[in-house]
Amino acid sequence: METVANAVHLPPLDNPHEREAVGIELEVTLQELIDLSLIGKQLHWSVVGPGARSVHLFLDELVGQWRELADVVAERAVTLGFVPDGQAGAVSKGYRVEPVPVHSTADHVVLWELARRVAGVAERIRERLVPIGAADLVTQDVLVDVVRTLEKQQWLLRTQLAEKV
Ligand SMILES: [Fe+2]
Repeated sequence: METVANAVHLPPLDNPHEREAVGIELEVTLQELIDLSLIGKQLHWSVVGPGARSVHLFLDELVGQWRELADVVAERAVTLGFVPDGQAGAVSKGYRVEPVPVHSTADHVVLWELARRVAGVAERIRERLVPIGAADLVTQDVLVDVVRTLEKQQWLLRTQLAEKV
């Protein structure tokens, strides 16, 4: 049960009735970012082809960025008094990002498959920005940062795909 002391120390929201809803949105975003980081590692291991080395290294950069963003998102949730579930079971139950096939995958296919998934996650978070902003502008700012990073990644993936077509 939330104590008076806890309530006093929680940041006030623009709409205090939305505290749990904001926490759940952050949890969904956290799980999508963890999912992306796991898929990124899977592709890091399965990529083959002439561009495999550069894609392999690039994927580790992206995985590092998704992990950092996941941490920021989870910590925003706990700052608001909501503890999100970022464990494997919760992430797999959410099943929001389509899994990738478990076999060797050509470098350009890896880039394409990843670009599609990053775009999907970015679009879904973008759709949540306006309602989140109505409840809490600071959380909206955190999610804007996530979308900005994902959209930049989409661009970087696109530039590498352009060489292949
Ligand atoms: Fe590695």
